[in-house]
Amino acid sequence: MTNPTQLPAWKALEAHQAKLKDTTLTQLFAGDAARFQNFSARFGDIVLDYSKNGVTDVTMGLLFGIANEAKLDTARARLFGGEKVNNTEGRPALHMALRAPAAHGGNALKFKIDGKDVGPLVEAELELMFDFADQIRHGAFKGATGKRIRHIVNIGIGGSDLGPALIVDALRPDIGGKLTLDFVSNVDGAHLDAVLAKADPEKTLFIIASKTFTTAETMANARSARKWLAGKLGEAAVDRHFVAVSTNIAAVQEFGIDPARMFRFWDWVGGRYSLWSAIGLSIILAVGPHKFRDLLAGAAAMDRHFLEAPLTENLPVILGVLQVWHRNFCGMGAQAVLPYAQDLWRLPAYLQQLEMESNGKSVTRAGAPVGWSTSPVIWGQAGTNGQHAFHQMLHQGSEAVPCDFILVARDRSAFPDQHHMLFANGLAQAAALAFGKSGAAVSAEMAAAGRDVATVASLTPHRTFPGNRPSTTILLPVLDAYHLGALIALYEHKVFVAATIWDINPFDQWGVELGKEMANALLAGKGGPGDSSTAGLMALYDSFTHRQ
Ligand code: F6P
Repeated sequence: MTNPTQLPAWKALEAHQAKLKDTTLTQLFAGDAARFQNFSARFGDIVLDYSKNGVTDVTMGLLFGIANEAKLDTARARLFGGEKVNNTEGRPALHMALRAPAAHGGNALKFKIDGKDVGPLVEAELELMFDFADQIRHGAFKGATGKRIRHIVNIGIGGSDLGPALIVDALRPDIGGKLTLDFVSNVDGAHLDAVLAKADPEKTLFIIASKTFTTAETMANARSARKWLAGKLGEAAVDRHFVAVSTNIAAVQEFGIDPARMFRFWDWVGGRYSLWSAIGLSIILAVGPHKFRDLLAGAAAMDRHFLEAPLTENLPVILGVLQVWHRNFCGMGAQAVLPYAQDLWRLPAYLQQLEMESNGKSVTRAGAPVGWSTSPVIWGQAGTNGQHAFHQMLHQGSEAVPCDFILVARDRSAFPDQHHMLFANGLAQAAALAFGKSGAAVSAEMAAAGRDVATVASLTPHRTFPGNRPSTTILLPVLDAYHLGALIALYEHKVFVAATIWDINPFDQWGVELGKEMANALLAGKGGPGDSSTAGLMALYDSFTHRQ
């Protein structure tokens, strides 16, 4: 690919932004009574409202132009065609193949690697997992002492933790009361400790989830969990209380888990794209095979939409080009994720890995330094909590942060009356960010309330809202497995769209290696990086902990 900043549409967008930057969202809405209709798109009953971003028809036309000039269609065809789009690791990125078998109405896309359909492989592994999950869920599979399994502890980190943990919480209303699920990721023993403190070894099943089965944190937690269980029930019990999810049979065997209790996936599934694979075993245990198929079906439907819908109606494309607009033309370095759904409270953390591990790169696919900004900082939390924490900065801080509001129409909680409050707050925040409140309106309001002139003058600047702060709203009819699958796939493809325009490989993560190496050197007592700060802190650690 060529340097995106040299593309004609990029140049045109720079000139366009220079002209558009003084036009406010208030003006854009005033000038177009149908702005919501004109700047929103739908996929089925999922609505993407991007009208509260500072864009016009011209902006969107040019942004779609960049996608075309960056040859998004070719990149997408290579992705779906099973080509080795992860060029630094020589692998395809075919997570879409994991959900294809679940596509509704026999509408499944076919995915091939080296000419071979991977569908049967995927389906066979799904069936094994479904069978195992049914045995656990219906009590046919018992622990070593004959008791039913009631507690699932998934030990994994990064993509082997964040996806399943997100989905299990998001589908909380679909989990019957029969199983409790916990996720242990941090190598800090406190994490495992807290979970084991409430675990009954006779009723607990550990899933050791690791694509490589070499990740230091996961293996440390797995060894400790194993020691704990063997200490309580004896070594022979380990067999019935541990299963593995991995691509690495040899390492699973070496750890002491029988390959018959291992669920497989493949190196063409990236860690942060793996919840659809055997890494989703905890999800299947939680909500059952049927709901897991719904999750896959929602994602498969989004795959087809991404592949086939025209750019102007294509939700992942719209989200992706808006990210490029904010990042590269408006100079915005952050992106907030604000789900107005407590059950989606883990979404910001999940998207941090998806977006920042994928697109936090500063060399192109060919290895040349990029001369343009790539991934923004992704952060956020569930509304309304964030309103009482960091929204102050969103409304009146010195920089604008584009926000994604994720709203859900139908409530599934036991307290549906509160849902109106939640929904109204989400809408109100987006409107307040967009339209603000002028100094004149603030002064008039205070004067009408009888405040004296001096008070009005001194308080007005503090109480003024500048507005003109961009946001996008994704409205789901309901937070069920199908729509959740579609939502996650939407973000996966959005990341791919932005990566294609930025000419970076979103499927590798070399940036995590150096820290691992240095930690290993420190652990091995080899002195680590050798700087005075690290050495000084290590020496203090040794003295505080009496390690010397
Ligand atoms: O943090 C790096 C990383 O490789 C992630 O990409 C991955 O999701 C995580 O570690 C866990 O890897 P594994 O599943 O191999 O244990």
